[in-house]
Amino acid sequence: MTTIAIVTGNPKPGSRTHGVALAVADALDKGLDPGGLGTASERVIVDLADHASRLFDWADPKLGEISAAVAAADIAIFASPTYKASYTGLLKAFLDRYGNNGLVGVTAVPVMTGGWPGHLLAVEVHLRPVLIELGATVPSRGLYVTEPELPDLDKPVGKWAEAAVPLIKKSLG
Ligand SMILES: Cc1cc2nc3c(=O)[nH]c(=O)nc-3n(C[C@H](O)[C@H](O)[C@H](O)COP(=O)(O)O)c2cc1C
Repeated sequence: MTTIAIVTGNPKPGSRTHGVALAVADALDKGLDPGGLGTASERVIVDLADHASRLFDWADPKLGEISAAVAAADIAIFASPTYKASYTGLLKAFLDRYGNNGLVGVTAVPVMTGGWPGHLLAVEVHLRPVLIELGATVPSRGLYVTEPELPDLDKPVGKWAEAAVPLIKKSLG
């Protein structure tokens, strides 16, 4: 069974960005199991808002467990709202806990939301490079969803998935 980790770095718990990340996981499930034969993914769901106060305690056992579970996943979706033209410090603080090549073997999916399309390349020029630096494989384009698109996620997520799912499938081997 495929394991999908969903990590959202938004200081607001249960955010719209977290909703986008979950919708991406659903789209991957659908795409990886097009016949609907019931091989739904196992999920590791991490809303970093719930762990923010302990993120800089590198000995924290719960966060150690979470980091290890994400690194052991087949696919990891890393989602963040755009803050000041980049992804959040909250997500960076989580990623900084990994050692060199800490995400080797993980197929990563970068996802960002933003107020307007002006910062849409942030997902490619800021979030993708840190995942590559950690050794993850990032086979598809990142997904950037603007605020006006948030009420109807089927459209942006569906369009992204058409091109992305075959690449992610290939990467899983
Ligand atoms: C501190 C802060 C900084 C932001 N900076 C940007 C920005 O630089 N570019 C942008 O497009 N949106 C920016 N936004 C808007 C958020 O990225 C956008 O509203 C996002 O979709 C919110 O997601 P959420 O509802 O999950 O929190 C900013 C919002 C906040 C609170």
